[in-house]
Amino acid sequence: MIDQPLNATSRRGFLKQTSSIAAASTLLGSTIPHVHAGEKNTINVALIGCGGRGTGAAANALSVQNGPIKLIAMADVFEDRLNDSYKHLTAQDSEEEKKQNSENSRFKCPEQIDVPEERRFIGFDAYKQAMDCLKPGDVAIFATPPAFRWVHFKYAIEKGLHVFMEKPVTVDGPGARKMLELADQSEQLGLKVGVGLMCRHCVARGELFDRIKGGEIGDIITLRAYRMVGPTGSAFAEPKPEGISELLYQIREFHAFLWASGGAYSDFLIHNIDECCWMKDAWPVNAIASGGRHYRDNYVDQNFDTYSVEYTFDDGTKLYLDGRNMDGCHQEFASYAHGSRGSAIISAAAHTPAKSRIFKGQNFVDDEIAWQFDCDEPNPYQLEWDHLIEAIRQDSPYNEVRRGVQASVVTAMGRLSAHTGQRVTYDEMLNHEHELAPQIANLTMDSDAPVQCDENGAYPTPLPGIIQDREYYSFSETSDETASPVEADVSGETEATDDS
Ligand SMILES: NC(=O)c1ccc[n+]([C@@H]2O[C@H](COP(=O)([O-])OP(=O)(O)OC[C@H]3O[C@@H](n4cnc5c(N)ncnc54)[C@H](O)[C@@H]3O)[C@@H](O)[C@H]2O)c1
Repeated sequence: MIDQPLNATSRRGFLKQTSSIAAASTLLGSTIPHVHAGEKNTINVALIGCGGRGTGAAANALSVQNGPIKLIAMADVFEDRLNDSYKHLTAQDSEEEKKQNSENSRFKCPEQIDVPEERRFIGFDAYKQAMDCLKPGDVAIFATPPAFRWVHFKYAIEKGLHVFMEKPVTVDGPGARKMLELADQSEQLGLKVGVGLMCRHCVARGELFDRIKGGEIGDIITLRAYRMVGPTGSAFAEPKPEGISELLYQIREFHAFLWASGGAYSDFLIHNIDECCWMKDAWPVNAIASGGRHYRDNYVDQNFDTYSVEYTFDDGTKLYLDGRNMDGCHQEFASYAHGSRGSAIISAAAHTPAKSRIFKGQNFVDDEIAWQFDCDEPNPYQLEWDHLIEAIRQDSPYNEVRRGVQASVVTAMGRLSAHTGQRVTYDEMLNHEHELAPQIANLTMDSDAPVQCDENGAYPTPLPGIIQDREYYSFSETSDETASPVEADVSGETEATDDS
């Protein structure tokens, strides 16, 4: 599987890692026990981040059919979120609901949920308390905003736990480098780690990948991907209401804040980027992107409404990506590949079913269909769990973190390009020094939030061309600190460079 271009940093990191890997191994005393091979062995699970996806992931975990599995601890920073999740998981669906809800359809045993009050934890240390309820070889689910990923993963490694973590797995350069180091440690210890890029487990896309590899569309020349939809998640945030701390408000509205999620760009576009890179079997080496804020009304978040990106692979192949969160416009949520001898629909509409197809020409017309996946597509959100738990029970190698970091860095590379107005390479993104939330490991309920608002309640937004070296500066930073390598001339009288 594709494993480039992780170069200088990963090699340099390897030397540094020897000591930390040794530390983790010593802490564990031995390798992770393979205790789950027998049918009678129960795998215990802890859910950290009990929102929409975490609740869905827990249901998927409990639906795996190859042996006993139980949810025994839950953690969140919001009590209402944890309670809602618990209620949802323990509610018994009607027969009709069971039929309709494919995510939960195989999970129907209330005794699989054993989370009494004393194993429901609230706060920024709740992740530790929940993982402390597990034994080595059990599974922790991370479905908080991605900013917390490396902090929680580090603790899971210390405890010898297998992990399922949602995407993105990092939002900035320093986080990516930490995650690569942790990926090494988890691989050395034989931990099994799933990353929530579930499209990689889709059988239709999998068959398409094999067919592309077999030359059925020739060499890939261009990839195109679109997530042009209406306002999504908490990407459009209104000013903080009374009665909630600044920090908790930013976590609640995490799509609005680059430190928490990488914003609308990273959180929403990563799946389409990743599935295109899968088909190409490579990662792009640079990105040139643009974007803008159009209809902001009373919204105070850090996002652009539109993003348009040209990713370039080492062989010159392009991936063109359009992201838009805007009502009243053309809507499309799909990925396509164009080759020298045909073309393919990678995914036709959102994540599943993919309805992957190959066409003889470059137009997606029915009478040119050369192949289509025409069986029912199993749910990839369930498949990713079936595969993870199977690997744990069989003790077979299974670790998606490195690939998850690569997908997250490629995604962040496009975001940094759009937000700064610069061409950004993969290595520049990976080695970028702007740590969006340096205090993330030590947050408490009383901590300041990683980014502060102005007197109108608005947060710093990217200013492409004006701030060129990072995505934003906080309002509190002095003008000296905000000086960018090319100081902007907003009057429009900047000296022309090589063309007009
Ligand atoms: N694979 C997919 O298709 C998919 C779909 C949706 C979301 N996701 C990912 O799942 C993650 C969560 O997204 P969501 O939509 O469920 O958001 P959400 O807001 O519904 O859930 C996040 C939960 O994490 C909690 N939380 C935040 N910080 C925490 C901390 N430090 N410790 C413990 N709990 C904390 C929040 O209170 C909330 O309950 C994101 O990374 C997102 O990208 C993936």
